[in-house]
This record gives sequence, structure tokens and C-alpha cells, in this order.
Amino acid sequence: MSDNINNETLKGVILAGGLGTRLYPLTKVTSKHLLPVGNEPMVFHTIQLLTEAGINDILIVTNPIHVGDFVNVLGSGKEFGCEFTYRVQEEAKGIAHALALAEGFAAGGSTVVMLGDNIFESSIRQVVQDFKTQQNGARVLLKQVDDPERFGVANFNGNKIVSIEEKPDHPKSNFAVVGVYIYDSSVFEIIRTIEPSQRGEYEITSVNNVYIERGQLSYTILQGEWVDAGTIDSLAEAHRIILNRKE
Ligand code: G1P
Repeated sequence: MSDNINNETLKGVILAGGLGTRLYPLTKVTSKHLLPVGNEPMVFHTIQLLTEAGINDILIVTNPIHVGDFVNVLGSGKEFGCEFTYRVQEEAKGIAHALALAEGFAAGGSTVVMLGDNIFESSIRQVVQDFKTQQNGARVLLKQVDDPERFGVANFNGNKIVSIEEKPDHPKSNFAVVGVYIYDSSVFEIIRTIEPSQRGEYEITSVNNVYIERGQLSYTILQGEWVDAGTIDSLAEAHRIILNRKE
């Protein structure tokens, strides 16, 4: 585990392995993350958020069906002023399972992990800055929402997160954990210890709960709008946020 986060160069990981079945038949054309949002493919937004925050070495994890489309659209990264590495997630076994593929790429350093279908009005610079002030551990971004049962939800004791529940029927707060996570290098050792959830996935929430047990999970409250563009309605919302952002 690193005790010198301040001096580290953070690397970026974009998780774009999902099959986007809720957006079918749009996702018969290509990956959800390459569908148009505003005037660009969705993943351009995630790449811009990372590069704006000074992160230029980026791993893209995708699935075997769509990896070719990603390479065709994104190339080496030269056009974006960054460098891309690609890895293929053979089985859809969850976010933590996809993240495990980043271990060699991370090479013992910390990583900013972004879900490629999360759209943000504001930059992620603040959470990256906040992470650099901590010695080790992880940092998540939280956002108050009207429908917390769709997300990982933080359970607080005072200002402290004491647990996170994945898609709870009875959420204990309305603070959703959004799809940006910053982890020190111990994340990979943690992933090896977690068990699949009832839906058969290695949940990122299980990873975050281990950091909580270790007293090493911090959070930043997200400013501005956020949407997880996994459904037709939220894709429409994503268009609106991106077009406003461009203005
Ligand atoms: C995932 C995470 C969840 C998080 C959400 C953010 O859910 O499991 O904890 O709140 O992303 O978009 P999914 O969209 O994979 O169902």
C-alpha cells in the first residue's frame, strides 16, 4: 500500500464492459458507451473528465463484442492528448471483477476508476484533489438523489459513512455513491477477498465496505448534476446535461 499518494501520478480506468441490455435495440448497433450523447460518443465525456483532471494514462475495460469498436473510435489516445490501454472482460461478472483486470496497468499506484455510463455536469478535479490530501485508502463521490434504491447508498453515523448498501429496498439515506472511485493499490488485494452478491456479481460496493471496515473510506459530495445513462430516460437526461455543459 502506498503511503505517498501526494507524489503519485494517478492513472485512469474506464469501465465500459456492460452489454447495455436496458438500451436494446440501440445497443445492437454498438456499446452503450459509444452511443451519441450531445454531439459525441458517450465515452468521450469520461475521457474529457479524466484529462481535465490531469489524468492521461487511461485503461479502457470493455467486452469481447465491442472492443473493436472502441479501438476504431478511440485509437491510441493521441487525438485526446492521452494514452489508451485496452483490456477485455470476458464475462460480465460485475464492476469489481472488471477492475481486477487493471492490476498490472496500475503497477502499484492509485487509480481513478470511472463507470463509462456516468455523466457529470461538473469536473472531477475536486475529488482528485481531495484524494491527494489523504495518506491511503479510497475516496467515493456522493450525490443526493430522489431514487436511491437504484444505486449504492451510504449509511451514515453523523458525518461518517458506516456502510454502503447496494440497491437497498429501504435506503437509509438518499446519498447515492456515484460512478467515480479513487483507490490506492490495496484495492486489488481487497477484490480477491470479496464474494459475489446475490445477483452473481463482484460488487464495487463490497470493495468499498472493506475500506470502511479498515477506516479508510473518505468521500466528497458531488457538485452539479449527475446521471447514470443506463436507460432510455436517463440517456435523454444525459443529452441535456452534456449540451448544457458545452454551452
Ligand atoms: C453501479 C454500482 C452502484 C452505483 C452505480 C452508479 O450500479 O453498483 O453502487 O451507485 O453504478 O452509477 P449499476 O449501474 O451497475 O447497476
